[in-house]
Amino acid sequence: MRRPIIAGNWKMHNTTEEARDLVTLLRPLVGTARAEVVVCPPFTAIAATVNAASGSNISVGAQDLFWEDKGAYTGEVSGPMLRDLGCRYVIIGHSERRQYFGETDAIVNKKLLAAYRNELLPIVCVGETLAEREAGHTLEVVGRQVREGLKGLETGQARDLVVAYEPVWAIGTGKTATAADAQEVIAYIRKTLGEMYGETAAAIRIQYGGSVKPENIAELMAQPDIDGALVGGASLDAVSFAAIVNYD
Ligand code: G3H
Repeated sequence: MRRPIIAGNWKMHNTTEEARDLVTLLRPLVGTARAEVVVCPPFTAIAATVNAASGSNISVGAQDLFWEDKGAYTGEVSGPMLRDLGCRYVIIGHSERRQYFGETDAIVNKKLLAAYRNELLPIVCVGETLAEREAGHTLEVVGRQVREGLKGLETGQARDLVVAYEPVWAIGTGKTATAADAQEVIAYIRKTLGEMYGETAAAIRIQYGGSVKPENIAELMAQPDIDGALVGGASLDAVSFAAIVNYD
């Protein structure tokens, strides 16, 4: 019932030429995937990526957006600008944004509402730090991020939402949460969504992110509540990303 969604977050990598080359290599490798395929380049490579992906089954997302549509906000990029470039998705509240740029749940919420206002599909990231996990606060932290981040989102809108659970300690470290650990937290996220949106929660896709590789994707995807992956490092290589997209 929920179509898997595998998204590559390129983070601060790839010039326009590198983006074009990567998508050109990727297109034939993922052309028959049953999962939805998304790549999220940096702002500067979005236009080139949209162009290179044109006519393929690869959608393009941004890695962030600002919550106002226009105005005196030097350096920011808005929802209408991303729509104009051909973006379909936008990542919101990635832990690197929270950690290095001070993004709070309230900011995540403003960005989420801006995404919906501009018909961009949000991928909202949540996840605990190592200290929070070791203190036994994982579910409390993730539950708060979901409730605060999604405030004001109506049930009819929630169906289009994608949530990405990314334990901060597993990002770029080579340490993956075990499939069972990821399933436990993701099931809790779905339960929380159920308290907020009733049976619509069963339609909301929830990804796992954090050192996803061709070697661990199948086990993660075999879990009942895991509907896809948000892939960082391994999405920069066409063959690795395609192997993740075409998991079996
Ligand atoms: O957005 C992607 C995540 O931060 C995961 O990154 O696959 O390099 O650990 P990673």
